Amino acid sequence: MTHRSQVITGNWKMYKTQTEATYFVRSLMPRVESISTQVCLAVPFTMICGLAEEAKESRLVIGAQNMNDVSEGAFTGEIAAKMLIEAGAQFVLLGHSERRCLFQENNDFINRKVKRAVKEGLRPVLCIGESKEERQADRTEEVIRSQLTECLIGLMPDQLKNLIVAYEPVWAIGAGEAATPEMAQKAHYFCRQILGELLTIELANQIVIQYGGSVNASNAKELMNQPDIDGLLIGGASLSLESFSQIVDDSESILNLKVESI
Ligand code: PGA
Repeated sequence: MTHRSQVITGNWKMYKTQTEATYFVRSLMPRVESISTQVCLAVPFTMICGLAEEAKESRLVIGAQNMNDVSEGAFTGEIAAKMLIEAGAQFVLLGHSERRCLFQENNDFINRKVKRAVKEGLRPVLCIGESKEERQADRTEEVIRSQLTECLIGLMPDQLKNLIVAYEPVWAIGAGEAATPEMAQKAHYFCRQILGELLTIELANQIVIQYGGSVNASNAKELMNQPDIDGLLIGGASLSLESFSQIVDDSESILNLKVESI
């Protein structure tokens, strides 16, 4: 039996200039060369091409933060999966809570995007998570169940071998306070159960489930130490080379522990 891979993804949102981004990537590349953790950066569209070129001989993976659900068309300001792939993106974040909350994206639209990403061969990172009100009303599991079900409807297990799920409680994003490791583990375990119901138990056991929401260099290790947390999706702390590199190093030591314990 092998353990799931551990994936650390930085989500740069709408930050950094090309110069800052290039410096970051050049400095990070040597640090990820001989490690088992997979390290990814979800960068603004205009940076994908240049950074993918920089990282092409390395193990660092560049991806996008969003895309449209159709292959092409009259959609001013949108971007297609094919364009992202051509630019060098290898994955795409879909359904991030900022897209859901600020741009009114719903599960149905996100489902169409997941289908499009799968069809074009772009690895989907499906973001889910409950709001503060939903958690307070004890609706966390209900929300996780409906987001996973509705976002994955119509997809077959063999189309989702590459899927990553990012559990990001909305109340923890950018809040300065992450979910406790126990809270996150409980939600991740539940996500895996639902994935088992929707797909197959075997596949559910292989799918990487990342935690996101106020991860930093002080809490990353404890979160990753949980059995169903297979990596992190990091916003604010991924903007600093120092904190992001620290989290990558921590991931590597946790991964070694997890592999040894099998
Ligand atoms: P945060 O963002 O780490 O700044 O909370 C996480 C995210 O939005 O993916």
